[in-house]
Amino acid sequence: MKIRCATVTDIPAMADAYISAFKDVDPTEIWTSEAAADLLHFFLLAQPDLAFVAELEGKIVGGICGMAKPWWDGYHLVQTEIFLTPSGQRKGVGSALLYHFLSAADQKYKATYMESITFKGLEFPSSWYTQLGFTDKDDWKVVFGDVKVLRARLARKIEDFRASITIEPTGD
Ligand SMILES: CC(C)(COP(=O)(O)OP(=O)(O)OC[C@H]1O[C@@H](n2cnc3c(N)ncnc32)[C@H](O)[C@@H]1OP(=O)(O)O)[C@@H](O)C(=O)NCCC(=O)NCCS
Repeated sequence: MKIRCATVTDIPAMADAYISAFKDVDPTEIWTSEAAADLLHFFLLAQPDLAFVAELEGKIVGGICGMAKPWWDGYHLVQTEIFLTPSGQRKGVGSALLYHFLSAADQKYKATYMESITFKGLEFPSSWYTQLGFTDKDDWKVVFGDVKVLRARLARKIEDFRASITIEPTGD
């Protein structure tokens, strides 16, 4: 097994691995190659020093990406994604990728904590994180909203005092 920095030319193979990793874990997320490539591109542009791939016999079987975000108690590793093709799983590759990612983040940013969003109703992969020492963050909850619905509600909410608000046009 080889772990190395990800490059833009790895994106198609990483996208294939990403799609196959999550296909069975969450069938409600329908990832196309383009969408997965966009996601990986986003990570590689934003934080190329925290994007790694794992190769088995010369073939990319997965990767890890995330961002180091300055926080009050040091850098937190956020938006983390780890993914392995089904055939790459249960061989220690995920643990090795995570170890390498955390080591790089410690060395470069002295990162203090890592966050990851995982699936609440499923035993796995939550169990994988727990057995490594991750815990639930009981004082946090993830909130999520549909942009169109939120905008419509907010437009109604601010209607009464709209006359007193000046909203500058967006930059584009
Ligand atoms: C989660 C993941 C990164 C773990 O990496 P890995 O290399 O498979 O795991 P490791 O080899 O380091 O650890 C193996 C242990 O993880 C657990 N595990 C791994 N794959 C599993 C699976 N498909 N089902 C249940 N447990 C699994 C088991 O406890 C396993 O130990 P065992 O083989 O002795 O039973 C990888 O399985 C993966 O990419 N899964 C799909 C995508 C995913 O869920 N990503 C994280 C989402 S937030």
